[in-house]
Amino acid sequence: LKYPRPTILVSEKLGEAGLEVLRSFGNVECLYGLSPDELCSKISSCDALIVRSGTKVSRQVLEASKGRLKVVGRAGVGIDNVDLQAATEFGCLVVNAPTANTVAAAEHGIALLTAMARNVAQADASMKAGKWLRSKYVGVSLVGKTLAIMGFGKVGSEVARRAKGLGMHVIAHDPYAPADRARALGVELVPFNQAISTADFISLHMPLTPATSKVFNDETFANMKKGVRLINVARGGVIDEDALVRALNSGIVAQAALDVFTEEPPPADSKLVQCENVTVTPHLGASTKEAQEGVAIEIAEAVVGALKGELSATA
Ligand code: MLT
Repeated sequence: LKYPRPTILVSEKLGEAGLEVLRSFGNVECLYGLSPDELCSKISSCDALIVRSGTKVSRQVLEASKGRLKVVGRAGVGIDNVDLQAATEFGCLVVNAPTANTVAAAEHGIALLTAMARNVAQADASMKAGKWLRSKYVGVSLVGKTLAIMGFGKVGSEVARRAKGLGMHVIAHDPYAPADRARALGVELVPFNQAISTADFISLHMPLTPATSKVFNDETFANMKKGVRLINVARGGVIDEDALVRALNSGIVAQAALDVFTEEPPPADSKLVQCENVTVTPHLGASTKEAQEGVAIEIAEAVVGALKGELSATA
């Protein structure tokens, strides 16, 4: 590092406890809502950048840092908004906060599962519009139903644990998950097609990578049980959203509950958002007070650790 007190740019809201950790080590600038051009012009005076999911750390941003940016910290798990290839080329480390929001994401998955099954959002909107529609909003029960967890990592496992408590039969698909972890939770690991074709509910918990992009498409929807219900608190990009609209219209998918979208925020006229059978929230999975404080500390410590490593490397 050229400067004894590094400059740390925080481009999205970060919990106070994390900001304190950062301030004890460097000069912290919180600039929220920068346009891509503004970020590019600011970045050449920064040693570290901390983002959530709303900032795209593109090749242009990394190039514009002119080699000064040493670390990008993602205050969350998914690093799909950071160009990892470009970061490697420009010698910039990328760190994340892998644990602090696990439970928050799992709890939101369960919130969407139960709200969807009982039409909570739709019934609430109708009552606020002055209606009292008891027979329109008959729901479906969860007990004894099969839930397929697609992606049995930290969040998927916590959703499984909670769904077992609701009396659901839980199966999972994950090419990398150890069978003993699944067995310990009473979850059966099954092949992809078996998971999607036998489940009454499917909950998505995989990262967005080239291999998972649009893995839920016309072909996969056609293999699902008619009337399946889908929950996504992972990444919008794992679903082909036009194919999901078609699957909702044809009745293959009875309902969907979505916290994440290919484009965030989605376009105002999004057919998916407007669909009566779809419950939506604006990427709130990690947004609890507890998770945000935890994530802020976790990412601040990771970024400071990376900058310290950089300091000792150049000392
Ligand atoms: C994550 O990847 O952990 C979430 O998307 C976090 C967030 O909401 O920023």
